[in-house]
Amino acid sequence: MTERIDLIPIFIMGKRYDVPPSLTIMKAMEWAGYTLIRGVGCRGGFCGACATVYRIKDDPKLYFGLACQTVVKPEMYLGQIPFFPAKRASYDITQVKPEAATLFKLYPELLRCLGCGACTKACPQELNVKGYMAAAMRGDIALVANLSFDCILCGLCAARCPAEEPQYNVAILSRRLYGRYMAPRSEHLRQRVDEIETGNYTAEITALKALDRNGLVERYKARDIEP
Ligand code: SF4
Ligand code: SF4
Ligand code: FES
Repeated sequence: MTERIDLIPIFIMGKRYDVPPSLTIMKAMEWAGYTLIRGVGCRGGFCGACATVYRIKDDPKLYFGLACQTVVKPEMYLGQIPFFPAKRASYDITQVKPEAATLFKLYPELLRCLGCGACTKACPQELNVKGYMAAAMRGDIALVANLSFDCILCGLCAARCPAEEPQYNVAILSRRLYGRYMAPRSEHLRQRVDEIETGNYTAEITALKALDRNGLVERYKARDIEP
């Protein structure tokens, strides 16, 4: 006998659909017949393409989530925000300096942040967005990079900001500055690149490239395995 599933009502762009309660918002939309072209990417919570706002009936609170990660609830009223038109400055990362002035010059609106915390409440990654914006106002690029490391550029923080800040674009500038100019360099990686460039491994790589599939399998089986 087929198991019966009680469907729950959700509202997509104002229209009611009855969907299985175990689905994510994204799967429920597809179950309801939508073919997602925008507002979908990795389906794994990493790309930030599926930012969604929703309300639940009779609850005035506005909720935020990723459609690919958030399971539907009864009487959910959904709105997708696949793109938010936040300001994005143009710069050549090789031509800018890792200092506070760079942040302020490219994003002067940064200094208008009110410290209200609406961005932090909206972040589906549960990042301290207000905190990294405060760090940006102090010019602490390393701290912005650290606090915003898991940002997926979904845009929900900017959508909620009363000061019209492009938080995630300030953050990615900081991470680029940090990565290029401030992060400690890996000495052993540099050494290995030098070894490769001076040809230490050329003979071995050439021998490997000359092997057929069976030869490669034998080499793989015979490799040293750490205990
Ligand atoms: S929502 Fe905007 S104004 Fe409020 S703390 Fe965040 S960045 Fe600042
Ligand atoms: S900081 Fe903003 S853009 Fe980044 S994940 Fe959070 S809400 Fe999305
Ligand atoms: S589809 Fe990539 S985060 Fe949801």
